[in-house]
Amino acid sequence: MNLYELSTPALVVDLDILERNLDRMAKLCREQGVGLRPHAKTHKTPEVARMQVGRGALGLTVAKVGEAEVMGEAGLDEILVAYPVMGSEKLSRLAALARERRVLVSLDSEITAQELSRASTLAGATIGVLVEFDSGYKRCGLEPGPRCAELAAKIEKLPGLKFRGLMTYFGSVWGTADERRAEAKRVTEPVARALEALAAARIPVEIVSGGSTPSAEFAGQIPGLTEIRPGTYVYNDLNTFYQGACNLEDCAVRVVTTLVSTAVPGHAIVDAGSKTLSSDRLSSGPATGFGRIVEAPDAPLVKLNEEHGHLDVTRSLHSFRVGETLTIIPNHVCTCVNMHDEVFLIRNGEVVGSWRIAARGKIR
Ligand SMILES: Cc1ncc(COP(=O)(O)O)c(C=O)c1O
Repeated sequence: MNLYELSTPALVVDLDILERNLDRMAKLCREQGVGLRPHAKTHKTPEVARMQVGRGALGLTVAKVGEAEVMGEAGLDEILVAYPVMGSEKLSRLAALARERRVLVSLDSEITAQELSRASTLAGATIGVLVEFDSGYKRCGLEPGPRCAELAAKIEKLPGLKFRGLMTYFGSVWGTADERRAEAKRVTEPVARALEALAAARIPVEIVSGGSTPSAEFAGQIPGLTEIRPGTYVYNDLNTFYQGACNLEDCAVRVVTTLVSTAVPGHAIVDAGSKTLSSDRLSSGPATGFGRIVEAPDAPLVKLNEEHGHLDVTRSLHSFRVGETLTIIPNHVCTCVNMHDEVFLIRNGEVVGSWRIAARGKIR
């Protein structure tokens, strides 16, 4: 079956592009001398995680305990939950998983460490801990400096935990290549400050985890970094493209959609709305629209209802007809993938299989 014959809306991944993206990042990390612990929030699919580990990834990153469980059940190991997990139900599930698999958690407060320690001890497990510091994104993370060392020292004393190092998210590395390069240079300073504080307290640091897709190419220039956690690179999306961090040909995922109405002049309606694409706006480049129509890039996807996508066709050279199939590159592939139960696999335009997106919707 051809991809244009799929029942729509449908999520498809081009396997040649996916494999190329995986190979490229594995090579980039090897060349820069940093480890790769890819973030599985983008694909949420054990089959892709296995391809990453098969190419040398030293483990996986997730944001949710539910994602960690899915990956653990699928046989994946050395899983970092890069999120300060709170709540006894989630912590006891995490501790149960830590009996079967090597699990790490990043956190930035003593109370989170104490709760984690309690759950881990109760389960008879050991959980690795990374202290999160803020390198400029201002979301989570301690000020890099003595407070990181103080928390690490407390973690070292807590039963059921093993302090393994530091973690930060380079979310501030965003924008054009020049902006990203300058910010990647700036973050070397907070990374150095966090490391100095740990060294001054004589606390050994095994892991320094940072990174993301837009900062990946600069990882080797950040002294002390031992690994990076890019997620989006597996599929890429318009946000990555408009930062110049990938080409359109590197976008592996598309949403296949059917044009269902041209009744209103100047408009064309497709069967992909916010429940198919997610309503995430573009946050790079022109910062407008909800995705790129590959067959008619001159028809912006200007508005989404739940099940309707509105194309502005007033300036398009494409002649739109009801029933035609179009494909869309999403703005933000991670939230788009999370909308779907399955992804169809494409090779040379033909559908060759499908994967269940086993960790989709795992928000706890
Ligand atoms: C903690 C953390 N690490 C890594 C990533 C991966 O970033 P990207 O998807 O840009 O590669 C994210 C993305 O949100 C994140 O929140």
